[in-house]
Amino acid sequence: MPTYKIAVIPGDGVGPEVISAGKTVLDSVSEAESFEIDWVDYDLGADSYLKTGELLSEEVIKELKSYKAIYLGALGDPRVKPGILEVGILLNLRFALDQYVNLRPVKLLDGIVTPLKDKSPKDIDFFVVRENTEDFYIGLGGRMSKGTKREDHVLKKELYQARFGLDIETNAEELAYQIGVVTREGSRRVIDFAFSLANKKKKEKVTSVDKANVLTNVYGLWRDVFEEVSRKYSNIKTEYALVDAVSMWFVKNPEWFEVVVTPNLFGDIITDLGAMIQGGMGVAPGGNINPDGTSMFEPIHGSAPKYKGQDRMNPIACILAGAMLLEDLGLDNASKRVEASVSQVLSEGKIRTYDLGGTSKTSEVALEIAKRI
Ligand code: IPM
Ligand code: MN
Repeated sequence: MPTYKIAVIPGDGVGPEVISAGKTVLDSVSEAESFEIDWVDYDLGADSYLKTGELLSEEVIKELKSYKAIYLGALGDPRVKPGILEVGILLNLRFALDQYVNLRPVKLLDGIVTPLKDKSPKDIDFFVVRENTEDFYIGLGGRMSKGTKREDHVLKKELYQARFGLDIETNAEELAYQIGVVTREGSRRVIDFAFSLANKKKKEKVTSVDKANVLTNVYGLWRDVFEEVSRKYSNIKTEYALVDAVSMWFVKNPEWFEVVVTPNLFGDIITDLGAMIQGGMGVAPGGNINPDGTSMFEPIHGSAPKYKGQDRMNPIACILAGAMLLEDLGLDNASKRVEASVSQVLSEGKIRTYDLGGTSKTSEVALEIAKRI
């Protein structure tokens, strides 16, 4: 029997509960499809950080690189200052493993209610391909406090004077700046992924979402590269849209979208919106993908600390992330069977968690989906 070794990071809050639900479902499909999964747990998150003071060591990163796939629950804990675990573990992993694609399907499943009036599953079925290693996520910037002097300032002295009425050398005021970086290769590889995904999923159009009308440097380069890559895929239609307008159209006309490709920060924002129109954070999965290395699949929701240990969180986002993981391993049938069972349980409408109007427990939902497989 073929065996797949998968690293698991249950993480914080409801992470371990939804991961355990996901494992139940993936174990049942592995049995049905005659393969084996060897789960290897990694204790990363608030507990280990508070115990050891370490977030993510070089050795762990090196070890994780030996896997094809990682299954991640969630990170974030009220005992640790916001951002420390999320940035120190989640973002660090995305960067260290060069997972340059963040793939987030926005698909309304049968049996789930969208808050959008008059929209049904046929209207909400697209992919957001979010760039995952560049843009405003690179952590480049600075913050100056009152009265300090900064010689290494990147802003032009004249511009600074004109725009803020301040002398950069004496800098009497407090200010902060953050820089986004877009590279040709960083854009090319993720845009190329979006086009080949369109082919694979039989989609006819790729939309570039940016803000090239104002942030002309970074997104000007992004658009040039989009233009160039699109020429390789003459069968696929292309479209440019500005992120503010897209925020309106996701709500008004979600049926317009097939594959959306967008830089990191806008991708972060519009995929929360996407999750809402597909029925909520409880059902929205995502994959951090390095096509030539280690990919990591996770529900896009956070660790929801207030629900921790209550067996209450909807595990469907995590289960669907598991289906994406299977597809990434080339186990297409297994992946489809998981999705089909999720759809079946949802359309029957009896077993569902509180967020979908039911009273079922996390573990009940998992067992029911596993049973269908
Ligand atoms: C997400 C999250 C993360 C991000 C945070 C937790 C760092 O919001 O996966 O969308 O901004 O990418
Ligand atoms: Mn986010």
